[in-house]
Amino acid sequence: MRVTLQPLGLAACLLALASAVSAQEGSIGKELYEAHCAVCHGADVRGDGDMADLMKIPAIDLTRLAEANDGVFPMLKVIHIIDGRTGVRAHGNPMPLFANTFAAARASAADPYGGVIAARGKVLSLVLYLESLQR
Ligand code: HEC
Repeated sequence: MRVTLQPLGLAACLLALASAVSAQEGSIGKELYEAHCAVCHGADVRGDGDMADLMKIPAIDLTRLAEANDGVFPMLKVIHIIDGRTGVRAHGNPMPLFANTFAAARASAADPYGGVIAARGKVLSLVLYLESLQR
């Protein structure tokens, strides 16, 4: 039997996922950060990763995103940067370095909803982790 998720079911899944994600933001988000971002933005998230010296444009301090935005963490902007909807040249756009990990559009045809939910969950975990580090 083929199981199809209706829009309401999908919304409920995303809500459940969001609360599960916020409970674990420290672990999953941190792991994703270390795997995909730390090389440039630094293990301490302040912009001094191993590749920082090799880049023409400095990888910015991601703990000051709220400060740079009048004290409000720019949640949507950061989500769009991570999932590739907003291009950052240093991230390899138009083909982001981490597109396969965070772009929902790359969900497999065999698992359309699962792929989207997994990709969104990862983006959310990572963004909540970054938000928790704002100073
Ligand atoms: C190859 C190095 C590199 C990697 C890997 C990388 N970044 Fe960046 N990132 C940069 C650089 C350099 C900039 C600054 C670009 C600019 O100013 O045009 C930047 C900019 C940003 C910005 C924009 C901030 C702003 O206010 O404009 C965000 C948010 C960001 N990165 C988050 C991330 C996240 C999250 C990851 C991991 C998923 C990541 N970056 C991985 C190099 C990198």
